[in-house]
Parts: sequence; C-alpha cells; structure tokens
Amino acid sequence: MPPRQLIAGNWKMHRTPSETGRILRDLVSRVGQASPRGEVAVAPPFTSLPAAAEILRGSGIALAAQNVHWEEEGPFTGEVSAKMLAEIACRYVIVGHSERREHFSESDRRINQKVRAVLFREMTPILCVGEKSDERASGRAGQVVDAQMKRGLANIRLIDDQDLVIAYEPVWAIGTGVTATPADAREMHIRIRAELAAAFGAARAEQIRVLYGGSVNRSNAEALLSTPGVDGALVGGASLEPESFLGIVRAAPEAPSQA
Ligand code: PGA
Repeated sequence: MPPRQLIAGNWKMHRTPSETGRILRDLVSRVGQASPRGEVAVAPPFTSLPAAAEILRGSGIALAAQNVHWEEEGPFTGEVSAKMLAEIACRYVIVGHSERREHFSESDRRINQKVRAVLFREMTPILCVGEKSDERASGRAGQVVDAQMKRGLANIRLIDDQDLVIAYEPVWAIGTGVTATPADAREMHIRIRAELAAAFGAARAEQIRVLYGGSVNRSNAEALLSTPGVDGALVGGASLEPESFLGIVRAAPEAPSQA
C-alpha cells in the first residue's frame, strides 16, 4: 500500500513573498486543528521559497518548487537548479506541469532530465502527466498518458529511499471547474500504476503515490480522494486560500484506497 496521501498546493504565478508569509503563517497555525491524515505540501513561486522555508521549518508542511532546470549550474539565464532548491530544504519539485509543456515547450526528454536532476539532489519529483481535451475526445487519452510516463521515466532507476510522485492532471480539467469523474480518474490511475510497475517492478510501484489534479476543491475533494488508486491531490486555485486548502486537506482519508 502507498504511504499516506499527499495534498500539494501549486500556487503557480501567484503571491509575493510578503503575501506568502501571511498565508503560510495562517496555514501553519491552523493545520494542526485540521488534523491532517495525509502529508501536506505547498509550492509557492521561486521568490517566495526562502521565506516559506523559514516559516514551514518544523511545521510538518513540506516545501515544494514548481519547476527546476536539468543542469546543476551553468549559463542558463533565469533558471534555478535542483542543487539550489535542495539547499533551501525543498522536499518536492513539480516537473512537467502541463502549463510548462504548453507555454514553455517542455518536451518529455527535458522532463526526464529534470526528474533525474531532482532525484540526484535527494528531493522527490512530482511528475505531471495528462491528456488534452481533443486527445480524450478521440479516445487517445490512455495512450498519451502511457507515452508521457514511458518517456518521462525512461532509464530511471529508483535507488534506496528515493521517492517519486505522479500527478495525473487532465489538461481540460485544470482551472476549468470541471473534474474527471472518479471512474475516469480510477481508470487512468490503474494505467499509470501499470506503467510504474513496468518501470520499477510491482512492489516498488505500489509505494509510489499517484495524485489527481484538475479543479480539486472543497466540495469534490472527498469523492476524488476516496477513489481507489488516488493517493492525494495536486491543487491549484483552491490552494491559494488557507480555508479552502484546509478543506481539501481534511477530506483526505485515513489510508490511501486500494486500486
Ligand atoms: P487547478 O490547477 O486546481 O486550479 O485546476 C491544478 C494544477 O494545475 O496543478
């Protein structure tokens, strides 16, 4: 059975460092009362990460970054490396989000390099996969996600206590208010788990959390998080306010449901 669920907030390009400070102090003071049954993580923008690291230290809420470069250092103006993120105590790094694939032309090959860079620095990649609406409409959703998994994880071996998280985020569900049905999410999570088993063996695949993402909010979180095979959520818009994010955190079940 996978470890406890992960509820991760992806803030995207929202909140300045001072706004981040206010939100996270509030979140830290209230998360205890929410008695989270899963693990909680937040991914603010790069400029907010050092301030966030200070506030989250010892809080039980993990720090995540939204992106990373694949090299350790070098002439890559505007980029941030895994070595830099590791030094400020990031535990997770989101890799291959559909907005990066779409607006920054990130290929599966680059995403694969980023996953390696994150693992090398002993952080956990949250690898995002998901189909677009036309791909679902034409019945190719499964193949698209299989290919993203194969290419994103090509030639990667997980050693010792290296960890990996997958986020299934159908592109048509992101920021739209429309979610996948629990049945569709379940079907895709089974497929993703099969790809993980092919890459790392069945026993290791069972330990890897597969999150659902795309318009998760307080009202739909319980149904999605109790869907068999769903091991948590990657939350965008609803993670920006402590109240709505905590509503999702509270909806996580005691133990991940079996696929
Ligand atoms: P959303 O975003 O929850 O606002 O749909 C999810 C994501 O992009 O990770």
